[in-house]
Amino acid sequence: MRRKIIIDTDPGQDDAFAILLALASPELEVLGLTAVAGNVPLALTERNARIICELAGRPDIRVFAGCDKPLSRVLVTAEHVHGKTGLDGPAMVEPTMPLEAQHGVDFIIETLRREPAHTVTLCPLGPLTNIAEAFRRAPDVAGRVQQIVLMGGAYFEVGNITPAAEFNIYVDPEAADIVMKSGAPVVVMPLDVTHKVLTTRARVEGFRALGTEVGRVCAEWADFFERFDMEKYGSEGAPLHDPTVIAYLLQPGLFKGRHCNVEIEVQSDLTRGMTVADWWGVTDRPANALFIGSVDADGFFALLTERLARL
Ligand code: RIB
Ligand code: CA
Repeated sequence: MRRKIIIDTDPGQDDAFAILLALASPELEVLGLTAVAGNVPLALTERNARIICELAGRPDIRVFAGCDKPLSRVLVTAEHVHGKTGLDGPAMVEPTMPLEAQHGVDFIIETLRREPAHTVTLCPLGPLTNIAEAFRRAPDVAGRVQQIVLMGGAYFEVGNITPAAEFNIYVDPEAADIVMKSGAPVVVMPLDVTHKVLTTRARVEGFRALGTEVGRVCAEWADFFERFDMEKYGSEGAPLHDPTVIAYLLQPGLFKGRHCNVEIEVQSDLTRGMTVADWWGVTDRPANALFIGSVDADGFFALLTERLARL
């Protein structure tokens, strides 16, 4: 039985790796991609999602446009990391596959109502606006979700867009608050773990050595994407954030984490979007998430590269 997933995404080079990994993995059935405003505006994230599907040879995948701005905040984007198009690095051709007419939020609601309860996993890779809006418009669907495995937040690693907050949560903290309080089973892939999967030269050359169009494009995305984090952190390569979500579905044993309470700062300007994880259990707040802290990085890149080779 293939696992049914919806990927909610703001491509973004690292989102592209996640989508390619999912499309290369027969264990997963991608019911659709819902684009959200985040790294770049919605008009680009929905275009980029279609470009990635065509690169994977999957123009049959249903791609939907969701929300074009956060629930109540002004949109903050990240062209400084991802470039003007969101997929800077290699030159990409305009997609020819169609964008679905239905709004992404309506697709999420309709799918969760149609599929048997607890058989669809949501994989948000950007701001949580679409997921939160679906739960607001249709409160019945939160209880039908099998699992939410999301990339976002940070605890020991602290923030990447502000000293306190990770980008996806920072852009739409109210949406993250709704998702974390929804009662759905949530797995959080924070910077604590994604900063441990760095695109070292050897790993990027591993993509290029595939000798395929996918391998070349992935290597060139990594070459572009890593310069921001390397300058900032002085690290050897950049964190390949979003594919950790898909890798968790495929090989959860690669990861280690802790069930704990995670709450979102929505009041303070100073710490807006901070994910306050009670990792040490110093409160009696109920555990509402599996918060991932570590990963077998070599195992992750072996899985990713092996699957990319299939495209
Ligand atoms: O902070 C990293 C996250 O923000 C990743 O999902 C990246 O694609 C951006 O959306
Ligand atoms: Ca993303």
